[in-house]
Amino acid sequence: MQFQWYPGHMTKAKRQMQEDLKLIDLVIELVDARVPLSSRNPDIDELGKNKARLILMNKADLADEKKTELFRRYFKSLGYFVVCIDARSKSGMKVIQNEIMEACREKIERDRRRGIKNRPVRAMVVGIPNVGKSTFINTFAGKACAKTGNRPGVTKGKQWIRLNKSVELLDTPGILWPKFEDQKVGLRLAFIGSIRDEILNTDELSLELLTFLMQNYPGTVAQRYGIEEDADAAETLGAIAVARNCRSKGDEVDYSKAAAIVMDEFRSGKIGRFTLEAPE
Ligand code: G4P
Repeated sequence: MQFQWYPGHMTKAKRQMQEDLKLIDLVIELVDARVPLSSRNPDIDELGKNKARLILMNKADLADEKKTELFRRYFKSLGYFVVCIDARSKSGMKVIQNEIMEACREKIERDRRRGIKNRPVRAMVVGIPNVGKSTFINTFAGKACAKTGNRPGVTKGKQWIRLNKSVELLDTPGILWPKFEDQKVGLRLAFIGSIRDEILNTDELSLELLTFLMQNYPGTVAQRYGIEEDADAAETLGAIAVARNCRSKGDEVDYSKAAAIVMDEFRSGKIGRFTLEAPE
């Protein structure tokens, strides 16, 4: 399967991010816990060097818990601060606040030595499309936060959301581009729905997904659809079509309908919790 990308977007986004990064102390990078490597753009390491780094493994509710823990340790071993979250829920937010302070401890102490007290940490959220950046900002910032910036005399300032006395967040996230020179990365991003389906062949995609699930999580597809898994993914898809009564007008088995069901149910976590890759 071939994927395409449009370089114009990349250049503009990158330039914007370089500007924004000058203003902050901490990069909060969201990744999708189902594809913690494929949903990263490695360029962020170069762009965010000299900044404190926090990785949020988001959508942990949809990922395989054991693998999530492996990845958490893996990222920590590389020197990142890491928290696994469901950005729609407020429950992880206190842990994040603590990790932010830990990640920025050096800066806070440096400020203190220079006699600067209570200067808030400035942070920015970054990540590829659809990892949950806006959801996270909404949940973390809530409604109560005052926006700062655009002070009198400063017409074109950045908007900062004051979370509390110690943290300010840039209100617009930095959008990174997925990097899928490697077709496997493209495929994983397509599985989780990060590449628009219009440019993909859903039938083919569902066969690739079924193959992956049957090999790596045997029995889960059988359980969801009440069928027997067949090593041939097309046979399995056919069985799902029959089980779900997917028929075309001429009463023929409609594979495309079944493929759409499989993709939809996978993405919403109905088939189970899966992680599509392993730490390097
Ligand atoms: P972005 O700014 O990075 O592009 O992502 P955004 O916040 O728009 O989130 C993309 C989709 O992912 C949204 O679903 C959002 O609800 C969902 N999402 C975000 N965080 C989590 C999470 O931790 N777990 C789960 N399960 N889903 C999450 P949507 O279908 O586009 O919209 P809607 O269903 O919320 O209306």
